[in-house]
Amino acid sequence: MVHRLRDLYAKDNHLKTLAAMPTAASSIKMHRLSRTHLVIGAVILVALYQSLSYMRSSYVTEPRNGRDTGLLYHFLGSNGTQPTQPLKHVSSSSGLGKSSSGTVNSIGQLIANANTTFEDLLAKKSTSLNEAANTYRIKRGRHPPPGFDQWYEYATSNDAIIIEDFFDQIYHDLEPFWAFSPRDIRDRARNLGMHVSILNATAEANTGWFWHVIWASMINEVAYMLPDMVIPLNAMDEPRLMVPFEDITTFIAEAGNHRAVPHPEQVTDTVTGWTDNAEPDQPYLDIAWSQSAPLSFARAACAPDSPLRSEPTALHLNMAAQPDHAQDLKFMSHGFVSNFTLASDVCQDPSIAAYHGALTNPLTASTSRDLLPLFGGSKFAVNNDILIPAPMYWDGDEKFDAGDDKDWSSKNNKATWRGTATGGRHNALNWPNFHRHRFVALTNGTKYSLADETSDRIFTSLQQRSALSPLPINLQKNMSLWINKHNDIAFTDMFCDIPTEESQYIDGNSFSGRYRSFLQSKSVPIKATLYREWHDSRLIPWKHFVPMNNRFTDYYAILSYFVGCDEELCGSDGKDEGHDSEAEDIARAGSEWAEKVLRKVDMQIYAARLLLEYGRLTDDNRESLGWVKDLKYEELKSVNRTDEIPDP
Ligand SMILES: *[C@@H]1O[C@H](CO)[C@@H](O)[C@H](O)[C@H]1NC(C)=O
Ligand SMILES: *[C@@H]1O[C@H](CO)[C@@H](O)[C@H](O)[C@H]1NC(C)=O
Ligand SMILES: *[C@@H]1O[C@H](CO)[C@@H](O)[C@H](O)[C@H]1NC(C)=O
Ligand SMILES: *[C@@H]1O[C@H](CO)[C@@H](O)[C@H](O)[C@H]1NC(C)=O
Ligand SMILES: *[C@@H]1O[C@H](CO)[C@@H](O)[C@H](O)[C@H]1NC(C)=O
Ligand SMILES: *[C@@H]1O[C@H](CO)[C@@H](O)[C@H](O)[C@H]1NC(C)=O
Repeated sequence: MVHRLRDLYAKDNHLKTLAAMPTAASSIKMHRLSRTHLVIGAVILVALYQSLSYMRSSYVTEPRNGRDTGLLYHFLGSNGTQPTQPLKHVSSSSGLGKSSSGTVNSIGQLIANANTTFEDLLAKKSTSLNEAANTYRIKRGRHPPPGFDQWYEYATSNDAIIIEDFFDQIYHDLEPFWAFSPRDIRDRARNLGMHVSILNATAEANTGWFWHVIWASMINEVAYMLPDMVIPLNAMDEPRLMVPFEDITTFIAEAGNHRAVPHPEQVTDTVTGWTDNAEPDQPYLDIAWSQSAPLSFARAACAPDSPLRSEPTALHLNMAAQPDHAQDLKFMSHGFVSNFTLASDVCQDPSIAAYHGALTNPLTASTSRDLLPLFGGSKFAVNNDILIPAPMYWDGDEKFDAGDDKDWSSKNNKATWRGTATGGRHNALNWPNFHRHRFVALTNGTKYSLADETSDRIFTSLQQRSALSPLPINLQKNMSLWINKHNDIAFTDMFCDIPTEESQYIDGNSFSGRYRSFLQSKSVPIKATLYREWHDSRLIPWKHFVPMNNRFTDYYAILSYFVGCDEELCGSDGKDEGHDSEAEDIARAGSEWAEKVLRKVDMQIYAARLLLEYGRLTDDNRESLGWVKDLKYEELKSVNRTDEIPDP
């Protein structure tokens, strides 16, 4: 470590070489969370917090008027339980057999790759403070923030696994702010209103809003190691900031000019701290919040060559009817999600708004294109909000608690889901653009068998074909019964009324607060999402959960892979045992890993790291603030024992 740093110091007093390292690059991709989680291979105890009620059929089958009819959405089985035409296996040259070998090889391969990815991640674990600090410098291009040793001590005394990648999201979120002066960021923070502040090592919310109260308690656990500061927190379900791509690119480039690892002697560790008292001549910033749906902002925030932005004229309600070219979705491989980071990035699917309520007609929309230091629990990949663990994860509310779940062998061979018909403002016309509604429809075998008699459409014919083609032929012949046998999925409340102030704070309008419990539950979570969260770099798709794309075209094939098809439904020649033990492996790996890296204290550790960085970022002296005790010590050692240190 010493050699490496000396090497770099020798070139220049600043480690400019590091400026080209992953900080800026990592700002483009991170992960996300989901609204729709399912649990496969097993029944999971999902808390129902609305009373059970079923979809009113008059509601869902309401005929569409005008030219929308039939164009918008094509339903799954247009010929009842029979596929329109014999479906060809595109990806398999071998016999069609009972299950496509393309499918088997593909999921098996993805699972094996995930094992390797996970091992690679574990190998990055730091086992000492100095190692952690060194990894930090190499990865971030700066010295660790003041207080890093105290943070490390807190983390290790709580048995945390320290892998620097776990904190990538922090650097992605904060990096563009280095383009703004500390004073400017403080001014913006004060102008945002609702916040938690840290004053003399105590965190307190300036509002009674329950999220803020929970956030304050979480932050208070680690406030003893943090300077005074103001932390503006989003009070809405939806993320709020979408800065145009070109602006962010400029900010990140400018931030690079402030990235350096100065000589330890030029570094201090005294952070001043600041409060919500206005500074002299502090401007009042009139922040422009736009109420329009986030799609137009999202386009502008995507890279110019990304699929969403490069088709700017498409009207999203018609997108479901457009021919979709599966090969254009870069994140899919052999029909399954092979890159979950991309699969959960709004920019990567030109038609994404046709598949997600929050893009179609969000419950609340209030978006700014300015870069503001606003913290929140989840966001789209293109949002510039700063992620902090969401209150519902930390709070331990029993609605979000896994409880004491059963062992694998005593669970049912079914996918289970319950939830409200939330996700935005749905109506008789737009509901097939809502992810939850689409999911509940496609897992309803009765609806499938009645497809010809209704006008409900959630798949284009092409999508239908790609959803069915990986399935064994015998299964395709009995889709409706098979779907009903292996799914237990329903709404608990349709939420047909226009939400009121009180009712709007419900599950399903952004990330799923139940995801952590699903992981803990010893069942397999299947996850499709457009949301990023604090924990994303900790969870490996196909190792800890099963990823699904936001169109859900892969759902039947995923289910079929794991649960198979029994003799009763598929006949003795079509019988398929599925891959129960692979599902069990994922369930076990997910729950064991969640016990290690998604604990409440892990959220506190993440929050502490985030706020140490924010504290430095907003300090006038930030360019020379850092934690360098390891280097001072090593430097000293090297002066005394130069003979033992070979020349670089
Ligand atoms: C199935 O659909 C195809 C094309 O949509 C049609 O030609 C055929 O007659 C239908 N078969 C049945 C049994 O309805
Ligand atoms: C992945 O790792 C688990 C646990 O280490 C092991 O049981 C499983 O067989 C591995 N799967 C593959 C496909 O390599
Ligand atoms: C901050 O807390 C310390 C220890 O509790 C106390 O001694 C000190 O007076 C406090 N300072 C202020 C400004 O409240
Ligand atoms: C996902 O795709 C991005 C962009 O192509 C790439 O940088 C990243 O490494 C990929 N991730 C995985 C796990 O393959
Ligand atoms: C399944 O679809 C049928 C037909 O539309 C409907 O009557 C039933 O309520 C649906 N079941 C669920 C659980 O949504
Ligand atoms: C579908 O399943 C039913 C119920 O088990 C069975 O009677 C029927 O033979 C199956 N149909 C086909 C085509 O396999």
